[in-house]
Amino acid sequence: MAITLPNHDEHLLIGGAWTEATGGERFDVTDPASGGRVGSVPNGTREDVTAAIDAAAAALPGWRSSSALSRARILRKAADIMRERAGEIAETMTAEQGKALPEAKGEVEYAASFFEWFAGEAERIYGEIAPPMNTDNRVLVLRQPVGVVAAITPWNFPAAMMTRKLGPAMAAGCTSVVKPASATPLTAALVLRCIEDAGAPAGVVNLVTSRDAGMVADTIFNDPRVRKISFTGSTEIGKDLIRASAEQVKRLSLELGGHAPYIIFDDADLEPAVDGLIASKYRNAGQTCVCANRAFVQRGIYADFLALLKQKVEAMTVGHGLAEGTQIGPLINDAAVDKADEHVQDAVAKGATLVTGGVRLTDGEYANGSFYAPTIIDGVTREMDIFYEETFGPVAGLTVFDTEDEAIDYANDSIYGLASYFHTRDYARLMRVAERLEYGIVGANAGIISAANAPFGGMKQSGYGREGGSVGIDEYLDVKYVLLGAVGTV
Ligand code: SIN
Repeated sequence: MAITLPNHDEHLLIGGAWTEATGGERFDVTDPASGGRVGSVPNGTREDVTAAIDAAAAALPGWRSSSALSRARILRKAADIMRERAGEIAETMTAEQGKALPEAKGEVEYAASFFEWFAGEAERIYGEIAPPMNTDNRVLVLRQPVGVVAAITPWNFPAAMMTRKLGPAMAAGCTSVVKPASATPLTAALVLRCIEDAGAPAGVVNLVTSRDAGMVADTIFNDPRVRKISFTGSTEIGKDLIRASAEQVKRLSLELGGHAPYIIFDDADLEPAVDGLIASKYRNAGQTCVCANRAFVQRGIYADFLALLKQKVEAMTVGHGLAEGTQIGPLINDAAVDKADEHVQDAVAKGATLVTGGVRLTDGEYANGSFYAPTIIDGVTREMDIFYEETFGPVAGLTVFDTEDEAIDYANDSIYGLASYFHTRDYARLMRVAERLEYGIVGANAGIISAANAPFGGMKQSGYGREGGSVGIDEYLDVKYVLLGAVGTV
């Protein structure tokens, strides 16, 4: 089937104007499945980043003093517009990112849900009146917008990771500068057009696309008007941002790497457990921070689990994300394929068994893309790289265990602490294991855990701060205590 790629050129958004970069340069956006051109965006410069911050700073007084209801209405309308344009946004996303079209459509809905959720939260930014120690005084606690926010967003969820930041920022009364990943800037621009068309005043959201992520970060971190940075990406870059934040003591939210364990106890329902692992592991071709990276399966269920997993994984269709029936698209680039393959080769060299996959797909329809076959390796041990490193590809590594303590010990043996999963029918074990896992997110009998109304975030080197849920908006609010003296005693 011939695939027609979108041909979509986009612009920077600065203070309500869609513009070219001051240097006049553009760069192409390409399809990881075919190498074809999807469109282009301006290569923003330091001057452009500063202009975007100027615009966000200028829009701040009006936006932060607007009514919560009016901000909520704009967010709800933006969600509606995104849904109306879901087809176009999803096709562009698939073309630049690679994920299968049904997944891209699912992401548009997921992204819109953050606007809706935070529209509700905008109307519930309550303060407090605390009992005073001195009865002559009164104690007020205010929650106010932090100010100008920078959102640095990743390529794996180009719409949802942006709305998960912009939703609460806008709801709180903050204005923003967005820097999307250079691989996926077109989806970001389309979503910002929805916000604009929903009636957000000029400068409330601004977009700077650029190939020079270091320059953008440097400009943002050195501008005292930017009060908070929210970043989703690798732990390595997150550490650089923590260092950069020290100079001006910037507030940070960091959603970094993950390395999720997926535990299946003997008493689990077999098929839901297999389906759960597949949903978690192969979502977005294994390129999510919450993907299962290590499956620990109890001995009694191991053989049946492996057989059913193999059968289902081998039935998956790999192809261009825009082709009918595709379940797994390409990886984002060849370096990602190299990393997945290195993990497989390292594990096999150290004694693991390749159950299925373990190859780059390079012939025919795959010839110009970055494809890797959905893979299962059996007999993973602590000596193998995949045991400790995030693969970010469609590779499931299995390890057998005997006791609950052993499973917990394996699962918690990681520098990461983002998502974890387990399957059991024993309610006491369910509670115990959920409490013992050192992860910010636990899926119990569930392989998909993401939702706008739940707090998403990690422990250990997976970062700090929470996105979504009732606490998600706190990341964009300052808490201020006001002492009212000499009020009198009643
Ligand atoms: C991520 O991979 O960082 C986000 C995944 C999600 O929100 O489900």
